[in-house]
Amino acid sequence: MNTWPYPRWIAHRGAGKIAPENTLAAFRLGAAHGYTMIECDVKLSADGVPFLLHDATLKRTVRGWDATESATAGDHPWAQLSHLDAGGWHSRAYAGEPMPTLAGVARWCLANGVALNIEIKPTPGTDARTGQVVAEHAARLWAQSPVPPLLSSFQPEALAAAQQAAPHLPRGLLLDSLRDSWAAEARALQCVALICNWQLWTAPLVHQVHLAGMRALSYTVNDEWAAQHLWALGTDGIITDRVDLFTPN
Ligand code: G3P
Ligand code: MG
Repeated sequence: MNTWPYPRWIAHRGAGKIAPENTLAAFRLGAAHGYTMIECDVKLSADGVPFLLHDATLKRTVRGWDATESATAGDHPWAQLSHLDAGGWHSRAYAGEPMPTLAGVARWCLANGVALNIEIKPTPGTDARTGQVVAEHAARLWAQSPVPPLLSSFQPEALAAAQQAAPHLPRGLLLDSLRDSWAAEARALQCVALICNWQLWTAPLVHQVHLAGMRALSYTVNDEWAAQHLWALGTDGIITDRVDLFTPN
């Protein structure tokens, strides 16, 4: 991808911490703060429906599930997950807010001209299947859009499956630490971006990533001085919780 269709600022999980993460309510709030690209976490229900949730389990951000059943979200069919409350944990104002499907989010993003970074967040043990199914759905949902979703993952196996299922969709490798094999992995996966824990970026690393033809992106940047530092290093994009602090440009 020689031309880069994405903005510099990306709202993390919708609107960071000021709305329940990975809900459409959060997307609306992120957009209301001027953000034109949003990051979200996507996994599969037991019957293969891609939906938004960060954690593998329902414990932290979902209410209304039967505690005698498995806490792992991916163990449940979508018909059950779709009735649960993913907003009440955050605040009363958002009680009853559902977990969205990727299809619902696609509809909203396309209607509102918002670009999406789909972080493929597989339930442990389902990396390849999640990468494949999410990429297939994304390819279909964004088929008519000039700006494709950016697929990213910490799991190379998920990205490899996405690459096979939808080679034309751009991919980003997420790194929380720099392993020796990162450059070879990114090359094999034909990634357009390396998306690092922001503290990993140095001038030589930015240079190396740019020489390899990739963009250099960071998560999760919530301080002004850190953002200034990253722009000065020449990085290309920032994922932030602080949609209330940073004005995207
Ligand atoms: O996609 C960037 C960032 O969201 C990765 O970390 O744990 O917030 O999903 P996490
Ligand atoms: Mg994420």
